[in-house]
Amino acid sequence: MLLTVKNLCKEFDGLHAVNSVNFSVELGTITGLIGPNGAGKTTTFNIIAGHDSPTSGAVFFGKQEISGMKPYETFHLGIVRTFQIPRPFSGMTVLENMMMVPGSQLGENLWNNWIRLKQVKRQEATNREKALEILEFLKLAALRDEPSMHLSGGQLKLLELGRAMMSKPRMILLDEPAAGVNPVLLEEIIDRIREINEMGVTFLIIEHNMDLIMKLCSPILVMAEGSIMMQGSPEQVRSDKRLLDAFFGE
Ligand SMILES: Nc1ncnc2c1ncn2[C@@H]1O[C@H](COP(=O)(O)OP(=O)(O)O)[C@@H](O)[C@H]1O
Ligand SMILES: [Mg+2]
Repeated sequence: MLLTVKNLCKEFDGLHAVNSVNFSVELGTITGLIGPNGAGKTTTFNIIAGHDSPTSGAVFFGKQEISGMKPYETFHLGIVRTFQIPRPFSGMTVLENMMMVPGSQLGENLWNNWIRLKQVKRQEATNREKALEILEFLKLAALRDEPSMHLSGGQLKLLELGRAMMSKPRMILLDEPAAGVNPVLLEEIIDRIREINEMGVTFLIIEHNMDLIMKLCSPILVMAEGSIMMQGSPEQVRSDKRLLDAFFGE
């Protein structure tokens, strides 16, 4: 298992937002996490990525316990997450946003700038090349010099995916990658996620869009009121009509 969540609990002033949650994500899968608003999905992500700490319970990445780590620590282990509301640096261009991803850039340190100017320049060029390659892959290359605030909802989600790819992650956590995305771009996003997965990246995806969930995710975990209610293949989840009616009013 790449990721294991054990008896995870998170309370906010007595509210059990996450209540004894157990699940694991197998290496190489695209695992879905669905459920109504307020189920505790984003809180679970926050704890995995280190943006929040659990009240009790633990999270393991491989065999290593990661609960209580800071976001930069989980990032260095190869976990990246995107946010329900994209958070680009809106004054910067698409390319600049890609190149801002913390990696091993030497350029941020003044000392390095003086002593190793050549090396810094070389690394910046490599970083830029990598960013452009990923933008090509996402079909965003034409927008590279556009300020990111000019992007549509779907293009912003693609940029988030691109930023996630910059650090060569082992696992990507996506929080509602289809939210606010038009149908044409949605197909693009679905295809790109599949291709990135085929490159060896494991995904855990929170999503309400059943088209994306059913096309991409297996297994699917169903969460409600802080607990995992069931998990199974798309067929198993789809055939549990009562459950889907209750959640999505289909
Ligand atoms: N920082 C917080 N402080 C207090 N309550 C919170 C906080 N974050 C989330 N909650 C509450 O926890 C519950 C789960 O929220 P969340 O994890 O965002 O659900 P989901 O992502 O499934 O919609 C909700 O009732 C929400 O209001
Ligand atoms: Mg959420």
